[in-house]
Amino acid sequence: MKKADIGLIGLAVMGENLVLNMESKGYTVAVYNRTVSKVDSFVKGRGEGKNFIGTHSLEELVSSLERPRKVMMLVKAGQAVDALIDQLIPLLEPGDIIIDGGNSHYPDTIRRTKYVTSHGLLYVGSGVSGGEEGALLGPSLMPGGSKEAWPYIKDIFQSIAAKVDDGTPCCDWVGDDGAGHFVKMVHNGIEYGDMQIISEAYDMMKRVLHLSHDEMSETFAHWNKGDLDSYLIEITAEILAFRDENNDPLVEKILDAAGQKGTGKWTAVSALDAGIPLTLIGESVFARCLSAQKDLRVSASKIYDAPKVDFKGDKQQFVDDLEAALLGSKIISYAQGYDLMRESAKENNWDLNYGDIALMWRGGCIIRSTFLGKIKEAYDKNPTLEHLMLDDFFRDKLEAAAKGWRNVVATAVANGIAVPALSSALSYFDGFRTADSPANMLQAQRDYFGAHTYERKDGKRGEFHHTNWTGRGGDTASTTYNV
Ligand code: 6PG
Repeated sequence: MKKADIGLIGLAVMGENLVLNMESKGYTVAVYNRTVSKVDSFVKGRGEGKNFIGTHSLEELVSSLERPRKVMMLVKAGQAVDALIDQLIPLLEPGDIIIDGGNSHYPDTIRRTKYVTSHGLLYVGSGVSGGEEGALLGPSLMPGGSKEAWPYIKDIFQSIAAKVDDGTPCCDWVGDDGAGHFVKMVHNGIEYGDMQIISEAYDMMKRVLHLSHDEMSETFAHWNKGDLDSYLIEITAEILAFRDENNDPLVEKILDAAGQKGTGKWTAVSALDAGIPLTLIGESVFARCLSAQKDLRVSASKIYDAPKVDFKGDKQQFVDDLEAALLGSKIISYAQGYDLMRESAKENNWDLNYGDIALMWRGGCIIRSTFLGKIKEAYDKNPTLEHLMLDDFFRDKLEAAAKGWRNVVATAVANGIAVPALSSALSYFDGFRTADSPANMLQAQRDYFGAHTYERKDGKRGEFHHTNWTGRGGDTASTTYNV
């Protein structure tokens, strides 16, 4: 019997659709699932008559694979991955490849790459993005880990990946050890941000403009034809148009308590560790946390008065201003995400290709958009671009969006409507383009109470001073360091 080109463990939503995608591209796939009955129901169900080898043990899975064996895991992030790796290692031979396609935390992938390669095997940690439909029809794939593994998995990965207009696959080698899972994590952080700014715009349409759901759906569908063209804008238009069995907008019956599986949080924590101001994504994570405090908010709503929403402006102009606020905030969010990638690449010694990353995100993944094509152009034009906001195209877009964006944030604040992502992005924009910030006051306060010293504007960087502000303290200064 023909041996399988690749083996996959974990026939949950993503796993099942990914193997169907692989088989549809001509590959023979061996499948295994811890709940073994799932293997039979899959092979006799959706896999009927297709090139699948159903296996009922890891030993059987491994023995059904062509060498060098490629074993892909799609199991819940965390301890389950480590346990499975330990079961696989004794069954494999030098040069075989273990691939983790789950949403693993990149420090775990860095550790696992070292551990698995120390046993003579190769390890790949790959981001897989696009949800159920993406897995079946074409995900974005972000592989990293043992570079020697790439030639053995490149054809299958690039054949199943989404393609952009010129046929280029949304999959390329990202970098060493945890680089692939890191880039997927940043993708998810940006996804949180995109979802949050869309939700804030929807909230303003509803509570300030009192648009109907059909009007809101049409607005998002219209925006999807312009700079905001993207998967998340597209599905928001569909969600707003969706009616339940009573012909009511289903979205209004969904409880406003958001879940989160952790990737957005990891992104925000990574930014804090790296000292990168990832403000929009951070606010998006906190917005989910606040939304989950539903009972607390209901109690609070009973003891606080809310300003009466009183909008007297031009509705169409405000809709245009909302579009500008979304575009401006989106640019900030992606610029912050790229800022984090640059800093983390330095810290982890990764050689990331920022234009390629934009290309991998151009199609198949949840944040796919035409906007990403512009990011790729910016890095193709200047591969050493220090910050996306220093690119002419994005500078012009931000300048054009600023007036409407400010009006949206001002209107939200005046009417007591929370827009944490739209407003934090605007503040980041204003802070980023301001040469003289109020941080001199922070330095003065730190030196006043803790003798933490400060540099002078008329002095050299690195020359620190202390002032005896009260005349009472001593002249001893604290050591100077930054986290
Ligand atoms: C993707 C998605 C996916 C993730 C969902 C849910 O790229 O296909 O990002 O990986 O599981 O985003 O994550 P949250 O529960 O954290 O929203």
